[in-house]
Amino acid sequence: MNASMANQSSAPDDIAERVAALLAQMTLAEKIGQMRQLNASEGYAPHYLADDLKAGRLGSVINIVDVGTVNELQRIAVEESRLGIPLLVGRDVIHGFKTVMPIPLGQAASWNPDIVRQAARVAALEAATTGVNWTFAPMIDISRDPRWGRIAESFGECVLLTSKLGVAMVEGFQGDQLSAAGSIAACAKHFAGYGAVESGRDYATTNIPETKLRNVYLRPFKAAVDAGVMTLMTSFSDVNGIPASANEFLLRQVLRDEWGFDGFVVSDWDSVRQLQIHGLTENDKESAFEAARAGVDMEMQGDAYANNLAELLDEGRISIDTIDRAVTNIIRVKIRLGLFEESFTDPEKLPPIANEHALATARKAALQSVVMLKNDRAVLPLSVDELKSVAIIGPLADAPYQQLGTWIFDGDVNLSITPMHAIHSLVGHDIDVRYVRAMENSRSRATEAFDDAVEIAASSDVAILFLGEESILSGEAHSRADINLPGDQAELVRRIRQTGKPVIAVILAGRPLTLTNIVDQVDAILYAWHPGTMGGPAIADLLFGIESPSGKLPVTFPRLVGQIPIYYSQKNSGKPPSHDTVVHIDDIHTRAPQTSLGMSAFHLDTHFTPLFAFGHGLSYATFDYQNIRASAQEISMGDTVTISVELTNTGKVAADEVVQLYVRDLVASVTRPVRELKGFRRLRLEPGQTVSVNFDLHTDDVAFYGRNMQLTTEPGVFHVWIGGSSEAQMRTEFRIVASA
Ligand code: GLC
Repeated sequence: MNASMANQSSAPDDIAERVAALLAQMTLAEKIGQMRQLNASEGYAPHYLADDLKAGRLGSVINIVDVGTVNELQRIAVEESRLGIPLLVGRDVIHGFKTVMPIPLGQAASWNPDIVRQAARVAALEAATTGVNWTFAPMIDISRDPRWGRIAESFGECVLLTSKLGVAMVEGFQGDQLSAAGSIAACAKHFAGYGAVESGRDYATTNIPETKLRNVYLRPFKAAVDAGVMTLMTSFSDVNGIPASANEFLLRQVLRDEWGFDGFVVSDWDSVRQLQIHGLTENDKESAFEAARAGVDMEMQGDAYANNLAELLDEGRISIDTIDRAVTNIIRVKIRLGLFEESFTDPEKLPPIANEHALATARKAALQSVVMLKNDRAVLPLSVDELKSVAIIGPLADAPYQQLGTWIFDGDVNLSITPMHAIHSLVGHDIDVRYVRAMENSRSRATEAFDDAVEIAASSDVAILFLGEESILSGEAHSRADINLPGDQAELVRRIRQTGKPVIAVILAGRPLTLTNIVDQVDAILYAWHPGTMGGPAIADLLFGIESPSGKLPVTFPRLVGQIPIYYSQKNSGKPPSHDTVVHIDDIHTRAPQTSLGMSAFHLDTHFTPLFAFGHGLSYATFDYQNIRASAQEISMGDTVTISVELTNTGKVAADEVVQLYVRDLVASVTRPVRELKGFRRLRLEPGQTVSVNFDLHTDDVAFYGRNMQLTTEPGVFHVWIGGSSEAQMRTEFRIVASA
């Protein structure tokens, strides 16, 4: 069968015929084998997996990135088994492979689908040299709780931004032709609602009303499915009482019946057997029953399926159709990947690892991901003409591994260029660059070295503090209840502030941190996330004005952890706070006048606004927005209105601006957010340049799931803002009228 299949095309009808022809030949054991993925990272996998491979009892392996070993596993599967079905080889290629890109939350701060697509393409080409043909990315869980460690892997809090960037990452991984060398299958994860875990604790329970599930958490997955993502992964979490790996509503009703998804669903690591730990089942057999019935096609690293599906079938509790559907979905993806035609990997057919393009892409992604949160007195950019010395201080200035961030199994730390080295290279021959680490790591409580740091700061023209989180403080199973700067970093800031010198903070972190305790003690903040391999040169270029910061926040920064959840697209409530109902005393304290005006939705001990808003980000240029207008005051259902604005670079340097368009549906059958991002565009403007920016809004763009759970646009008035953040004030409006 393998030989004859190799010569066939992959048109949809042919694929269906090929799958059916293969399925008809498969034994039950071989079918169940395709639904099984095993870890191949321990020892020499061809030895301990050979029997399973020869018997056709394995459809995929995970965590093997040695091309010789992968080719040997494929050889056994293809040449020594009865039907010669090649393997899917899975790996977490989350934000790069050897060349590490900024963490996804950092890439999201670029607001640039093109760079996200390019970064994923580079990652796919590098991973494919090892035989990897399937990545477990993009992670498109809407994330509105910075205590959650996995916010680092996400594209942040916004439905539209996550949807657009998730699609871009799918396109980057899967390429224009999935069967081409260097294209790998993508996996939209974790389906669904994982980002809503209670208190930001990883793996915890989620309770999400169906309207919120459909209007928020499912939207990015629908976009990924519509973009042709080949696989989805179920989340570990309990979703309204039924864990995702057993959730028929998600896996059958939504994913298959409503969306028509025809790829396959893989469980998360052992999440099928964890159904028993959730308390949904009493043993592996029942877990296999629940997951298979719900629609999990492949079990990742667990044997509930292998050990129980045949018996469940024999007992008539599941049908052969359930198994055939799963196997069909899996085989279809293998055919689309061209694995039957090309089962083996020749790295020579692919570009070299960490080539010039890869590193340039990593540098550009890092450059566009850094967000300038503040720049008092325009202390930035620094100028070598005005400086004689700079003090570089902190545990993350020269930390080649830490700057890579979480989920970098295959990152090559030797490729990292740190900020300290990049600054030396850029300006070290012009000015005196002094460096004190001051803290062993970001969590240190030891302050002995602070005196040295204070000394070099006091004797330098400016102090640049490199602060934040080591990579181990973010990512899976690494949630934090206190999201201040770890260790005694705040004390270090306070000590350096006392020198009276200009203080710049460059923060590397895998989440928004609560910066309220240091924000007034520094003159400027560059938020670099974990910027990856080329984070150093990108940060150096921004510090010294080679390029202007252009990132915008993909997630809201709270003043205090107690404000969480706080995100821009909140509902208005019946008693919204406003600046005249809540008196802002200082950055921490507020006071509500003891009158009825004070009765509104806020906390007594902090201001009701965030420290930094979604979409916020400063530039070395200044941008002026004028003359917002709608092409029509009234449109009918099915029509499009164009919202325009004049944007001018009123600064002295060329720079990028991310123009953002927000909409509010004022009255609807269910309450709607006070703002929703409905358009954005990154534009480059020369000093003095004015451009007209137009966004087309179709009535479908403001559709939502209402009381009847149908995606509907309702007539009414819509407010529209355009600006450089979610706090944009310039507004117009239009009305949608029911079709005549
Ligand atoms: C992990 C993660 C998932 C990852 C998988 C394989 O537990 O939840 O995102 O892709 O296991 O490593």
